[in-house]
Amino acid sequence: MSLLNDEFERSGCKVIEAPPWLSGYTYNGVLKGRKSTKSLKIQGIEFYVLGDYSERLLDTMCRYLKDGVNIKPSDLSDQVVYVAAKLNSNLRLNDLLKEIQNEICTIVNASAASILMYEGDYLRFLVTVGKVSGKIESIPVPMESIAGAIFQEGKAMTFNNLENNPAHFKGVDRAAQFKTKNIVGSPIWVEDEKIGVIEVLNKDEGFTEEDEQTVDLFARLIGRKLLSSWRYEKFSDRFKKILLGIATAIDKRDNYTHQHSRNVAQYSVELGRKMGLNQQALEKLEFSAILHDVGKIGIPDSILLKAGKLTDEEYQIIKNHTVYGSEILSVIKYVDTDIISGALEHHERLDGSGYPYGKKDDEISLFGQIIGVADVFDALSSRRTYKEAWQLSNVLKMIEEDVEKGKFSPIFFDTLKDIVMEVEKEL
Ligand SMILES: [Fe+2]
Repeated sequence: MSLLNDEFERSGCKVIEAPPWLSGYTYNGVLKGRKSTKSLKIQGIEFYVLGDYSERLLDTMCRYLKDGVNIKPSDLSDQVVYVAAKLNSNLRLNDLLKEIQNEICTIVNASAASILMYEGDYLRFLVTVGKVSGKIESIPVPMESIAGAIFQEGKAMTFNNLENNPAHFKGVDRAAQFKTKNIVGSPIWVEDEKIGVIEVLNKDEGFTEEDEQTVDLFARLIGRKLLSSWRYEKFSDRFKKILLGIATAIDKRDNYTHQHSRNVAQYSVELGRKMGLNQQALEKLEFSAILHDVGKIGIPDSILLKAGKLTDEEYQIIKNHTVYGSEILSVIKYVDTDIISGALEHHERLDGSGYPYGKKDDEISLFGQIIGVADVFDALSSRRTYKEAWQLSNVLKMIEEDVEKGKFSPIFFDTLKDIVMEVEKEL
């Protein structure tokens, strides 16, 4: 082992402590990982040392690093360890689930796979991919089901003839328009705790004992990554709901008849996606857009709700909502400068005619520019107490004129137009 470690360290790889749950895991009746104290990070992929067969895999990796040859895990269990190590725990839950499901389907040659998370007195079925649509969000599955039996027994199990098995929960099949013929499943473990169940479905020739062992090993290796992604998703979901609640309160006070903040967030995220922002940036953009007008909370009703024309002095006060917004957001620990920039700069314009600072061109942040154009689009196309909704062609014409005056980037405008046209086509 130490020879391998030396070799890895010489190759510039990081050698770190293995999580304690690996110790004492049995596979094929043999105790694996008993002496395991290490995991290895090689080019961003984390490998756990799981005893003899993993050393073989690590040996392959050493050769790969030295000779630049393709990694070829030498047997099925190596392949499972390799695939589980490759899973990216930074992925959003949906993407991680898809990866998990696709990988296990490929390894055991099955049609689909499901992940169910334990929720106290039932299991929450999350999503199914493979040859089935990946669109199922979440269905509660009772414990009196095959998944429930696997969870309660605490061991991997195979069901090759489901036709006459009354325990098979048909609700998921109905929702997925999928007919489950056979299942191999295992509890998903984090250390000694069961956090859910993975079910692998439909293999033409039926599942073998080797498939059951493979799914069992895989379920032990994915637990920690899955749990952290699941917890993050729940936290982020609740956080987003709180933010939407605050934003809705502000929209209502401002007499918006439509869900302005939510709309601006949707357009902004679509714009960001088309511009190639990654998932993490899109999430920040969404928070920033939801809260872009949060500073309006600091503007007196007499000005914010005034029906007639604003005086110059009143308009100056309205402009302060951008600065107030950035001040409010900067006291929230989770919120970073990108998120703040959207609230502060969504009224800045590229030609310097905007507010609060009259910033120009690339002095204006990306979030400020994206939210700025989405904000104008929604404000013009929605009905307000003081005006009717404009027709789409007029809204686009108005923004195009602003693009020609140098206020908005033509790239953002063209992208927005594409998004709007796609939505129109769907209606
Ligand atoms: Fe605003």
